[in-house]
Amino acid sequence: MSPIESVGIVGGGLMGSGIAEVSSRAGIPVTLVEISAEAADQAQSRIEGSLRRAEKRGKIEAAEVEDVLARISFTDALEQLAQCDLVVEAASENEQVKLDLFRRIGPMLEKEDAILASNTSSIPIVKLGAVSGRAGRVMGIHFFNPAPVMKLVELIPSLTTSPETKSRVATFVEDQLGKQAIEATDRAGFVVNSLLVPYLLSAIRMYEAGYASAEDIDHGMVLGCGHPMGPLALCDLIGLDTIRAIGASMYDEFKEPLYSPPPLLDRMVEAGLLGKKSAQGFYPYK
Ligand code: CAA
Repeated sequence: MSPIESVGIVGGGLMGSGIAEVSSRAGIPVTLVEISAEAADQAQSRIEGSLRRAEKRGKIEAAEVEDVLARISFTDALEQLAQCDLVVEAASENEQVKLDLFRRIGPMLEKEDAILASNTSSIPIVKLGAVSGRAGRVMGIHFFNPAPVMKLVELIPSLTTSPETKSRVATFVEDQLGKQAIEATDRAGFVVNSLLVPYLLSAIRMYEAGYASAEDIDHGMVLGCGHPMGPLALCDLIGLDTIRAIGASMYDEFKEPLYSPPPLLDRMVEAGLLGKKSAQGFYPYK
């Protein structure tokens, strides 16, 4: 089984940029595709900012920062992915967008054993495999935000993923990237979001109902339970649009009311208050 020697990333938002950074820091050349040259520039700045922060904190040498950046090429042309060993799709959490990408990228990959993965948190992997024309070589690889810091990666083989694909991806994640993998079945939310999302949505409902201020809800969980950040600050970090999309997919799958996005979350997303990435969510950001 050959190691992954080139990685393609589709989407340079929070997750795509983080996965590109992690892969390049593992010494693997990365091609990051965005929808426009401007979006590709933004992804480049995001990765550079993250590396500079890591440098300031003594996690990486200045010379290595340059090498990591030099190993990533940024483009708006999907065809640049043709020669990759592994492509990780990290576009927005929207089923139609992902299906369209899998339909287009699947036939583009020139290597017979190339793997096409999704960083989705909640969209069925089996559906993405079915439209790609290479279902045996499609699986879910789910990173956590911020990807350079969070140790966990969820691996989600679908009913049609081949055992070779599963073990090659597990080796990539654990041995090449140095992350800790857990395996989950192809059900919306997998392990972590099935537990996390109802908690985050409950915090939003609590705030919406006026139980307590955002600060007090967050202090409650940080100081009372030792969480690194409170639920509303975490919503802002993940992105309120992403949380709404994950909750909606999970609700569609299980019809469990706790997964259903509350009206305040809908209104905030409709207003463009998406959290840290839009400089305003439950809190303001610079
Ligand atoms: N590379 C390597 N290390 C980095 C880094 C980078 N690019 N950027 C930061 N770090 C390191 C810092 O050096 C620091 O390490 P030390 O503590 O050893 O010095 C550590 O990461 C934390 O960084 P900061 O000090 O800048 O930030 P912080 O202490 O305020 O912590 C946080 C920020 C890591 C986000 C922390 O609050 C946390 O863990 N929050 C919870 C995040 C979480 O739950 N994520 C999962 C979200 S769910 C998800 O993503 C899935 C989904 O589908 C929605």
